[in-house]
Amino acid sequence: MSATLLHVSDPHLTDDPASAERLRQVLDLAAPRRPDAIVATGDISDRGRPEEYRAFAELMANRPPWIAIPGNHDDPATLRAELAQEQCPVLEVDRVRVIGLDVTVPGEDHGFLRDDVVRAAGTAAQGAHQVVLALHQPPVEIGHPFVDAIPLTNPDVLVELVQRIPRVVAVLSGHVHTPLASSLAGVPVLGAPGVASELGVDPDRRPLMVDDGAPGMALHHIDDGGTVTTTFHHAA
Ligand SMILES: [Fe+2]
Repeated sequence: MSATLLHVSDPHLTDDPASAERLRQVLDLAAPRRPDAIVATGDISDRGRPEEYRAFAELMANRPPWIAIPGNHDDPATLRAELAQEQCPVLEVDRVRVIGLDVTVPGEDHGFLRDDVVRAAGTAAQGAHQVVLALHQPPVEIGHPFVDAIPLTNPDVLVELVQRIPRVVAVLSGHVHTPLASSLAGVPVLGAPGVASELGVDPDRRPLMVDDGAPGMALHHIDDGGTVTTTFHHAA
């Protein structure tokens, strides 16, 4: 048995139908691969408005099971209310348990892993065979001054969580709007491309974000032994 996770991030939905269309494009692109579940790693909405979450829910209807966690653009309480999500939403796919972590800090763009979230994640991980953790801000630097100024600021707490709970096979992130592969405590850290826009990797590039490129997504295939194979895809 194995699990295939569709990883989408940063749709930044607005009242412009073009933003929803970009998310629809990546969901439809992934559909023939028959993902078992969908993980959305934050910045679901651009301004945290209820109608932006309703547009997300509409697009996710009749799709595989999914979870969504907040990013710095989201309003976590509104997200949870509109999308019926827990603080640490959980997805169980075959032998893989995906646990979402809310690392948002009100009014700030960086992330911070709070003690109450660590405790909830620890409880959610009990009895799991393999665990995938999902959060918005990556716990690593990517070599770009803009996003490296607004990371997860206490990655040591995530390391401790990774080492304490049952086997963590991957950490999924968003926030940087670019395909990302790194590691933390020997565990792959995998970031999805942005749905709304792409970050240029050249620090001197202007503008920083490119929103006329194709929306992207990642597919993570996890086999029974815990090997994670990731491919990145764009809709055009
Ligand atoms: Fe974003």
